[in-house]
Amino acid sequence: MLYMSLFSTVCVLYTQGMGNKEWREFGRTEVIDNTLNPDFVGKFILDYFFEERQNLRFDFILYFFFCVSYLNDKNVLLLTLQDFLGQAYCTLGEVVGSLGSRLEKALGGIPGKKCGTIIVKAEELNNCRESVMMQFCGNKLDKKDFFGKSDPFLVFYRSNEDGTFTICHKTEVVKNTLNPVWQAFKIPVRALCNGDYDRTIKVEVYDWDRDGSHDFIGEFSTSYRELSGGQSQFNVYEVRSCVLLDVTLLSFLVDIEVTFLDYIKGGLCVFPLSQTGNPAQPTSLHYMSPYQLNTYAMALKAVGEIIQDYDSDKMFPALGFGAKLPPDGRVSHEFALNGSPQNPYCAGIDGVMEAYYQSLKSVQLYGPTNFSPVINHVARYAASVKDGSQYFVLLIITDGVISDMAQTKESIVNASCLPMSIIIVGVGPAEFDAMIELDGDEVRISSRGRYAERDIVQFVPFRDYIDRTGNHILSMARLAKDVLAEIPDQFLSYMRTRGIKPLPAPPPYTPPGQPIHTQI
Ligand SMILES: *[C@@H]1O[C@H](CO)[C@@H](O)[C@H](O)[C@H]1NC(C)=O
Repeated sequence: MLYMSLFSTVCVLYTQGMGNKEWREFGRTEVIDNTLNPDFVGKFILDYFFEERQNLRFDFILYFFFCVSYLNDKNVLLLTLQDFLGQAYCTLGEVVGSLGSRLEKALGGIPGKKCGTIIVKAEELNNCRESVMMQFCGNKLDKKDFFGKSDPFLVFYRSNEDGTFTICHKTEVVKNTLNPVWQAFKIPVRALCNGDYDRTIKVEVYDWDRDGSHDFIGEFSTSYRELSGGQSQFNVYEVRSCVLLDVTLLSFLVDIEVTFLDYIKGGLCVFPLSQTGNPAQPTSLHYMSPYQLNTYAMALKAVGEIIQDYDSDKMFPALGFGAKLPPDGRVSHEFALNGSPQNPYCAGIDGVMEAYYQSLKSVQLYGPTNFSPVINHVARYAASVKDGSQYFVLLIITDGVISDMAQTKESIVNASCLPMSIIIVGVGPAEFDAMIELDGDEVRISSRGRYAERDIVQFVPFRDYIDRTGNHILSMARLAKDVLAEIPDQFLSYMRTRGIKPLPAPPPYTPPGQPIHTQI
């Protein structure tokens, strides 16, 4: 006889090596029995890099257990079969960039079949930058000393992966009391629970003794998550030893350095404005060559694909500069690549590439190369939303020739007080001295004695990233990494100087249907 007695599901996370793009198992969730709507508790702890495209793959596997035959009354022979339930691909940036850092995706992988939905939630472990200030008091402490009072102190332990405990804090001794109030103390969250909010924190209560043989009064366990509820009935801990006593949390204050992700998860959109197609000079022989075309397209794709994860609608205005436009041959330094000035938005980075290729066919590339108009164009958008709800990233891909250096510097100084950053990728063999000056990493850029309020420009020369072995995937990933590395800090410098606080994350989500649910 053969019948199905039980089934279980598990979610397996795969990540990709940066160079070879090979999928490797990163980890798996716990196995959940007998439901097709598992809500996994298991978490994956990943390092997040804004400037990298971190591809993820989630595979769902179903296990069936078949009872093959009865061996005797108690024992049966079981056969396990595996089935593939579906999979989902995304990037870590996509999850983080979604509202509330919560991404919902349809599962695919089985042609012609609806496989369900995955919900992935990301949460930043604040282990490096978060500290908590806590204060405890005790009541009804056991009389331990001859004189009828105690000298109590608390010892905090963090639990380790292997189940052992490491001491992480000792309070002072409060002498001669039955109702001690210990001083508030500050402890890094990393020391308290290794940044894991659900990890057990063990607290032991002792009675101090002059000779060092402190008497153990009792102990209790809690976690960061429980403690973060602050003073309440849930944070009164009964310590059961020979008598009953209470340790009460009086206050719990988180001291946190705000990061880029705090703003992103509050629902902020980063709007990249792409600018492509420097016209090079009319004399440039390389421009229309397949190689050069590739260079522009490759740089745009490498950087654009990372940034687009943070844009909610993925519509990018794309502008060209330095060309004669049809029908009258007017020279323009800010024209819509898609030929529609009222609506220069392109759908996704693919749409921008398409518009770029089309525009090469219709416009006549023409010098001089002015940067200032296009910077001012984006600055006008940025100036209209200064409340921190949007941040603009202008991507300029250029051969490095610049005809309006003085105005460009002034435009950058002007823009340095706006929510925007400028990324410049230099292509071709030219000298990029002017671009390095605009970058301002060494000397803060200034114009007529006025200095930029903050550094908003990042420049990289494309040729430094050409891989002689032809591994474009790796070289473009490196390019994007270097070009985007400064964006989170530039973004934060704007928010901090303006005193803009992150919006609170949207309330926790309760699924309407019953989709497959996992957590990072
Ligand atoms: C910079 O801002 C000033 C004051 O708003 C403006 O007059 C000037 O034209 C701007 N410079 C450029 C190059 O756009």
